[in-house]
Parts: sequence; C-alpha cells; structure tokens
Amino acid sequence: LLPPFEDNFGRKHTYLRIALTEKCNLRCLYCMPAEGVPLTPKPHLLTVDEIIRIVEVFAAHGMDKIRLTGGEPSVRKDFTEIVRRIKEVKGVTQIGVTTNGIAIGKRLQELRDAGLSQMNISLDSLNPEKYMMITRTNGFKKVMETIEKAEGIFDSVKVNVVVMKNVNDMEICDFIEMTKDRNLSVRFIEFMPFGGNKFTLNKFFSFKDMWQMVESRFGDSIYRLVDTPNDTTKAFRIRGYRGEFGFITSMTEHFCSSCNRVRVTADGNLKVCLHGNSEVSLRDVMRSGASNEELSETISQAVKRKKKQHAGVENLQHLKNRPMILIGG
Ligand code: GTP
Ligand code: 5AD
Ligand code: SF4
Repeated sequence: LLPPFEDNFGRKHTYLRIALTEKCNLRCLYCMPAEGVPLTPKPHLLTVDEIIRIVEVFAAHGMDKIRLTGGEPSVRKDFTEIVRRIKEVKGVTQIGVTTNGIAIGKRLQELRDAGLSQMNISLDSLNPEKYMMITRTNGFKKVMETIEKAEGIFDSVKVNVVVMKNVNDMEICDFIEMTKDRNLSVRFIEFMPFGGNKFTLNKFFSFKDMWQMVESRFGDSIYRLVDTPNDTTKAFRIRGYRGEFGFITSMTEHFCSSCNRVRVTADGNLKVCLHGNSEVSLRDVMRSGASNEELSETISQAVKRKKKQHAGVENLQHLKNRPMILIGG
C-alpha cells in the first residue's frame, strides 16, 4: 500500500465521492436554478474506464470508501455495472450512493448484489404538495416506496432532509416520528450556499433552531449516540425508537477538522473541499498520457493545498462555487 493522501493538517483522505453524471430527474430549489445548468459535452465527461482508473489510484493509497453521487447517479443505464467494477477494485470495502430515490427503486436488489452497501436518499418533505414545490417535480410516492424497499435490502438507509426556514422546518418532528418503528437514520442538513441556489440568510435554519424544536417536543427522551469517526452527523435517538436521527451542521459547527473526503466531478475535476473553488482536472492529466505515478502526484499536490476549513454563512465566496448539481455534495 502507498501512503495515504495527507494534507498539511494531518488529515488522511480515505473517502472518495464521485459524481457519475450532471443530469438529474428532479430540480430541487437548493441545488440548481429552475432553468437548469449548462451541461458538459459528453466527450468532456469521464469515461467508465477513467473513473475506474481514478478509483484504483486512490485505493492504492488506502482509500476504502466510495460514494457515488451526481446529479442523480441512477439516470445512468450502466450504473449497476459501474458499482460492480468499483467493487472489484482491491481495497474498496464500502460503496454508497446518494440518490433522490425517484428512479432507483427497481434496481435496489441488483445494486446490492453488485456490491452497493449504503443508501442515502433525499426526501425534504412528508407532504406531497410541498415535496413538489421543493423538487419542482411530482415524485413523492415513488421516493417513499424506494425508502421502504431499501430498508429491507440495505443495512444502512439514511434519509437526507435539507432544512429551510418557513419551507420544511415545521416538519422536523414528523420526520423524527418516522424513526419510531423503522430502521432509518434521518439527517437534518443545514441549508448551504452554492452557485445558483439563491441562498439567503432568511431561509437559513440553524442547528440551534432545529435543536430547540426537537428538544421542546422530545425533551428527556432524546439521547446522544456515539459518533462514528469522520462522520458528518451528530446522531441521536429517541428512547424506545428503532431508528435514529442526526444533524449535519456544515454551516454553524463545521466538521472540517476530521474531514477525510475528496471528490471528483463528472467532468473529472478533483475538488478537495466541497466549499472550495480550487479544482484540478484529473481528466486532462490522464488524457495527456500521464502514468499512475504522475496521477498520484497530481492528487497529492492538490490535497496539500486543501484549506484548514471553510468559512461560515456570511462568506459569499460560496456563491461562486459550482452549483451543487455539478458537485454531488
Ligand atoms: P456518509 O457519511 O457516507 O453517509 O455520507 P454523507 O452523509 O456525508 O453524504 P451525503 O451524500 O448523504 O450528504 C449529506 C450531506 O452532507 C449533504 O448536504 C452533503 O453536501 C454534506 N456533505 C457531504 N460531504 C461533505 C463535506 O465534506 N463537507 C461538508 N461541509 N458537507 C458535506
Ligand atoms: N445545502 C445542503 N444540502 C444540500 N444538498 C443539495 N444541495 C444542498 C444545499 N444547498 C444535499 C441533497 C443530497 C446531498 C447530496 O446534498 O439533499 O441529499
Ligand atoms: Fe437532483 Fe439531488 Fe440536486 Fe435534487 S439535490 S436536483 S435530486 S441532484
């Protein structure tokens, strides 16, 4: 094994997030503008062989966890095949997907058989009309069905809720009730600014605000669970409930000091921080005929440029970042 990609703050990068596509079958308010975003022409997107090569280079440096993102990864016909090929790479032990749950439902068992181990599914409202308002699409029922089916197939199913003030903040306790009899982890995510998502502070609902709501409803029956290393989530359970819930507090209590993640966009850029604009094209390096050693060196240099942390909600630099749809989270 080669040494892990380590930055100047001692963080070792063993978790790779790969965006498989820029396309999506939803149009979530917090992720992209209504008119969509200009898509990268196909020849400029990574090929499956290039994706696998990147995975192999990372795995040689101790990366053991992959998460596939997008856009919506399941819009790709070859999605299961990609999972299967990643699973064959030596050193990869966990493969997750972050999906909107609209079109992936039919493929859950084949994905599990191909080696997918974790499912994170986005669902921002338990009210069908509100779901439609947020995602600009009518798909609530399909997502609910996918979540239910996924619970029977995968060991880990997480529901992602991006909380926005006066949009879905009032549904937090209803989401927690979903964990009563179900083996689910519901995570409330602070709304983050990105290019094109019209982030404003008056739509921001902080962890503190969420906590106040949860505490006044569930009080002493809430207990804290032990954090798993490098997790983005502060996790809790209601006494007697089967599932759990948590908070991803990127904006008010960031977890940058334990970050072990890097990401590769669908067009092949390495992004060492979700909120950082610094990118380097692994696609161009590969297409210029570089060896794996040279590719490793490019990654290693980029990781060494990783900043200690990203700034808070007041930092408007975030809005110069790519739109979320072109990053993958
Ligand atoms: P697992 O820990 O593998 O389950 O993944 P996750 O919860 O980090 O991934 P998921 O794709 O479900 O994303 C949930 C939320 O966490 C999204 O809002 C992501 O944008 C956010 N997130 C993921 N990685 C990072 C990160 O490195 N930094 C920050 N600030 N947020 C992140
Ligand atoms: N702020 C917080 N989370 C976001 N996501 C997408 N856009 C944002 C945003 N602006 C979440 C999605 C998905 C995950 C990849 O990132 O809900 O679950
Ligand atoms: Fe699509 Fe996910 Fe973005 Fe929504 S958040 S538009 S489901 S990529």
